[in-house]
Amino acid sequence: MVVEVRIERVRTDEWGRAMTAMTSAAAGAEQVLRPHAEEAFAAELDALAAADDRPRPARWKLSPWAVATYLLGGTLPDGTVVTPKYVGPRRIVEVAVTTLATDRALLLLGVPGTAKTWVSEHLAAAISGDSTLLVQGTAGTPEEAIRYGWNYAQLLTHGPSRDALVHSPVMRAMAEGRIARVEELTRIPADVQDSLITILSEKTLPIPELGAETQAVRGFNLIATANNRDRGVNDLSSALRRRFNTVVLPLPASAEDEVEIVSRRVDQIGRGLDLPAAPRGADEIRRVVTVFRELRGGVTEDGRTKVKSPSGTLSTAEAISVVTNGLALAAHFGDGVLRAGDIAAGILGAVVRDPAADRLVWQEYLETVVRERDGWKDFYRACREVSA
Ligand SMILES: Nc1ncnc2c1ncn2[C@@H]1O[C@H](COP(=O)(O)OP(=O)(O)OP(=O)(O)O)[C@@H](O)[C@H]1O
Ligand SMILES: [Mg+2]
Repeated sequence: MVVEVRIERVRTDEWGRAMTAMTSAAAGAEQVLRPHAEEAFAAELDALAAADDRPRPARWKLSPWAVATYLLGGTLPDGTVVTPKYVGPRRIVEVAVTTLATDRALLLLGVPGTAKTWVSEHLAAAISGDSTLLVQGTAGTPEEAIRYGWNYAQLLTHGPSRDALVHSPVMRAMAEGRIARVEELTRIPADVQDSLITILSEKTLPIPELGAETQAVRGFNLIATANNRDRGVNDLSSALRRRFNTVVLPLPASAEDEVEIVSRRVDQIGRGLDLPAAPRGADEIRRVVTVFRELRGGVTEDGRTKVKSPSGTLSTAEAISVVTNGLALAAHFGDGVLRAGDIAAGILGAVVRDPAADRLVWQEYLETVVRERDGWKDFYRACREVSA
């Protein structure tokens, strides 16, 4: 029995090493579908680190100024262009970055699709050079995902020991002085959430089984994201809320901002999927953004006509996927030029989530707004075709 368990352990280790080797080989060959932020933007991060002469908090790869520049974009003295990752108020980014340099954790709050996850990943990449210390919050997230678990084979043979501990991403971040990320914090059951309180206030993780603890080293902090819409599913206890500085990410302020966000992301995603750049794409992107903003806001852009809002969120993230799908349609089944017909089905799918109520809302918008608008005849026809 004992021998069997040992063999199991060796196998587990070897399997782990093989998997790590495979994963890094794949990353090296640029075969991964979605590289982590720190890999995708390694050149920008290196250039920023070289140009950055401001003081850095302990174990930070960059100064707070350079982290903010990485997120918001800019041109460095040596001419390197840093692309903007987040489009929005500068102050929001500054407050978020500064929070992480203090002893308070950061909570990014906002409606769906406002780049909470995106900002959290890029902050962790810029500060720690590692965005992978991630706990995904779900209704079933166990306490071990935040604290630690046990390797039972080890536990049975050797009893409780440090070797038998399975570190959670949060525990690793504490030991290594890095940023840990917790996604969708309010989906996690309340008692599991509360295991964060000791970590955030005492900066230590007790391990009663060993009569030991793991203390956070300098550089450790935590970024959590939570969705406004989920508020109340498992609302944060006030004890936990007090440990966070909350930063609310807004919807894009203007249509121009939103068009820029969508164009930029679609371009990046399209390159990842080897889709050709679409020449007339800009007009259609503006159209998708206009439709989404009008339906979301309940009024047309000129402020003259009221429209009803559908039940879905119609976030920027959904606009991005409508345009990406449209581009794929144009590339594979059209002439490569993004046209009204390529985005109509995507828009319909995003707007009509509830087949009865939303369909009425969409029909009304189509007949009262789209039909009358100058230069939108092709779009109206395409929408009628897919709605029928
Ligand atoms: N202001 C913005 N600046 C840059 N990108 C944005 C902005 N708003 C949305 N995006 C884009 O939207 C996409 C979705 O964002 P993300 O997944 O981070 O949203 P989220 O807030 O985490 O949503 P959810 O609540 O559904 O988890 C990302 O690709 C991101 O680039
Ligand atoms: Mg998210």
